[in-house]
Amino acid sequence: MSPALADPQAFDRQLAEAAQRFGTPAYVYATDTVAERLAHLRAHLGRWFAISFAVKSNPNPALLRWMGDRLDYLDISSGGEFALSREAGWEPGRISFTGPAKQERELRPAIEGGLGELVLESLREAELADAIAARAGHVQPVLIRIAPARVPKGFGDQMAGRPSPFGVDAEDAARILPQIAALPNLRIIGLHIYSGTQCLKPDAICENWRIFMQVFSETCAALDLRPEKLIFGAGLGIPYHPGETELDLTAITAEIGADLDAFRADPRFADTRLVLELGRYLVGPAGWFVTRVVSVKESRGSRIAICDGGLNANLAASGNFGMVLRRNYVMHRVGGDQGGARPEEKQDISGPLCTSIDKLAGGVTLPRLEVGDLVAIHACGAYGPSASPLYFISHPHPREVLIEGEGMRDATRIPAL
Ligand SMILES: Cc1ncc(COP(=O)(O)O)c(C=O)c1O
Repeated sequence: MSPALADPQAFDRQLAEAAQRFGTPAYVYATDTVAERLAHLRAHLGRWFAISFAVKSNPNPALLRWMGDRLDYLDISSGGEFALSREAGWEPGRISFTGPAKQERELRPAIEGGLGELVLESLREAELADAIAARAGHVQPVLIRIAPARVPKGFGDQMAGRPSPFGVDAEDAARILPQIAALPNLRIIGLHIYSGTQCLKPDAICENWRIFMQVFSETCAALDLRPEKLIFGAGLGIPYHPGETELDLTAITAEIGADLDAFRADPRFADTRLVLELGRYLVGPAGWFVTRVVSVKESRGSRIAICDGGLNANLAASGNFGMVLRRNYVMHRVGGDQGGARPEEKQDISGPLCTSIDKLAGGVTLPRLEVGDLVAIHACGAYGPSASPLYFISHPHPREVLIEGEGMRDATRIPAL
């Protein structure tokens, strides 16, 4: 069981130690929780799928290195992520490369460096990659990203089913794919779809995967392709806010298992590796953002705890990362209510920036916060430091701490200001 759930008081002591030793604000990642989530994923979906981790969700080098012999593949979305993954010990052959605006300067090192699969998102990119592969003297394996015409309701972020910069629209595939197939230095080995993310509804995820299977079947038939690989952009969501519940993987397998079995039974897919590509599901719940109360203000009937890390260090928890209505993340005071000495009350929590959008909580019920206290915000292991405006108002960058069992170490990627 995740260390935070198994013994919350012991875990709070670890969070306090991390803050004491390495400073705040800090992201604290627990590898035991990632391991537990990976095991859960494999137990439910491993019969059909290998797992690919989307580096964009958390490119921390120590975490990527830890994943090296635990996960099957990495998906990167920039030349920078290629370099980070290679430095973390990943073989290039286990890496795929997505992204809608890939450029020569990042494609060349990846292709020359032995990239496993390039996920093509346009004809422009295919022609560029073909020329680079020709100069490198090899044939580059590619997957083609398709943007389906429809995405079911229930996804927090939608990348297809409407005008979108991502991939080849399914309606245009018949025109564009043969042109890609004709390029001599690329070899199409499969297809890729990532059309929606942050979904907590099993039936919407299953419906989406059924759309994928239909698109894959039709497209492979049209290309007369027996694919080596088909990537299912998983879309698995995680609970961030009070009242949200963990996605039920049992419900997903119960609903989609027979369809996946039937899909696999098609002779065209007999040798195909199906891959689930995801980020937040694995690492999101394995990260806590720990920030220290610097000042407390009573303001016109509200108590406001002002902390050393806010929007600058954690854009997502401030509600400014694609959220329409700001809602509090789940959070707690490290150390609890101290045996009743800190009775719970409604408070606001803000960060150190001079802007009213720098808010980590509005009207949250927590033990009464005082200067020096630590607040831990949950579900912060994905889209953390790398998705935050770290330079805004030039405060120190957040630390990153890796907890492995009883041990912890500084795993900060981004240098201090
Ligand atoms: C192509 C692609 N792959 C993977 C992901 C990872 O999504 P998540 O972290 O929600 O699993 C995204 C998210 O935007 C994506 O665009």
